Amino acid sequence: MKRIAALLLALALLLSCASAFAAKNEKKKAEDMNFEEIIDDDSATGTVNVYHWWTAGGEKYAIESVVEQFGELYSGIEAKSNAIPGGAGGAMVMKVKVLQQTGKSPEAFQAHPGQEIEPYLQSDLLLNLNEIWNYAELEDRALPGLVDMCTASDGNHYVVPIGIHKTNIILYNIHLFEQYGIEIPDHEDITWDEFWSICDQLQAKMPEGTYPLDLGDQKGWPACQVFENIMLGTDPQIYEDFINGNYNVDDVTRVLETYTRLMDYVAPDHNSRDWYHTTGAMVSGNCAMQIMGAWAQPLLTNMDQVYGKDFGVFTFPGTAGWFGMCVDGFVVSNDSADVESGVRWAFSVCTQDVQEYFSGLKESISPYTDTPDDVYNELTLHFKEQLTDENTKVYPSITHGTAMPWSASTSLQTQIQEYATSTNHDAAYYANRIVNILREAGVKGDWNLVD
Ligand code: BGC
Repeated sequence: MKRIAALLLALALLLSCASAFAAKNEKKKAEDMNFEEIIDDDSATGTVNVYHWWTAGGEKYAIESVVEQFGELYSGIEAKSNAIPGGAGGAMVMKVKVLQQTGKSPEAFQAHPGQEIEPYLQSDLLLNLNEIWNYAELEDRALPGLVDMCTASDGNHYVVPIGIHKTNIILYNIHLFEQYGIEIPDHEDITWDEFWSICDQLQAKMPEGTYPLDLGDQKGWPACQVFENIMLGTDPQIYEDFINGNYNVDDVTRVLETYTRLMDYVAPDHNSRDWYHTTGAMVSGNCAMQIMGAWAQPLLTNMDQVYGKDFGVFTFPGTAGWFGMCVDGFVVSNDSADVESGVRWAFSVCTQDVQEYFSGLKESISPYTDTPDDVYNELTLHFKEQLTDENTKVYPSITHGTAMPWSASTSLQTQIQEYATSTNHDAAYYANRIVNILREAGVKGDWNLVD
């Protein structure tokens, strides 16, 4: 018995030494590293732990393809994919913080560029990736507008983008429209009036227990995404002012009044599901439409749904000519056990092979001009053409990390989910609470979207 106790004690001591050692990973500085040598070393060995939030059908296969392609580039490095479910990255910041504090920083992790990465920067957690940008000539290859979005407040690049999605769309079940004799508009840029009319017709014809819309906001962020789309669709100037911190209660009340009207058509148990369950509910006919970003496409593809036959897409009302931009990318920790492998991972995501596989499976727009159009399906190509049209205006997402400080956007998600779930949807009351969130977070942006 004594011997067992002694053994256990020794083991505990060993483990605590190991974790103390792990906590002391050396913090690397980009200027002390030779990126070219690191990237070119295809015989390197090591491990890269990659954290991401792609767990839904389609996006899961897309990240698996990156792992596979990484193996082709660096066969001696084991890439371990770690998924944090829920989507939109809400849980990522906390997860990374905990890993970092226990000396287990992931070599690379998913992030949206912009405000979302600022907390990591403030804690000096990220490796400067300017040398990847130079080596892979990303400034020349990036789609217009992207370089600015991927330049941090200190003027450096910390993110290597992997894909872009449009956020301001509504997906709908074509079969339900046909079944209930609801005319499908011959244009995708529907107005608010057309949208309300579609909702009214669906509501009148759909059987009890089924609904025109659903939110799938169990995690909060889908409700916030609806809020940002309504705000842009109410008046782009209001959106610009809001993300710059020039908010006012009246404008937010106006936006929430429209949201209140929309809630009349939403399944009452909307927050008992995640966004991908709602996509499933749309396919099975429990709801006719879903307000979601274009990342729902690969999920639909995985459910054998065909664009134009089984499902269609509207531009969110009031946002025609605007492209809500959600950029996915990877950042590299500066204090992981294998910082060099993190660099190699970040480099791999902008290579042509990875871009071709990933964009095809994720049905996202490649951030790079040299990705051939034949990797896209009809709908993604259409979105790409919209994004690259010189008349299209782009707006950053609050919900997907770019437009606002992380602390403000996560509080907004909670508040708006609470609003959507409340029974009386009191617009003025929640507008005050929303404005307080911005005030407390000291939101101060410099966005110029409208002119
Ligand atoms: C990401 C998308 C992802 C979606 C749902 C967004 O934040 O940018 O790539 O598919 O969340 O997980």
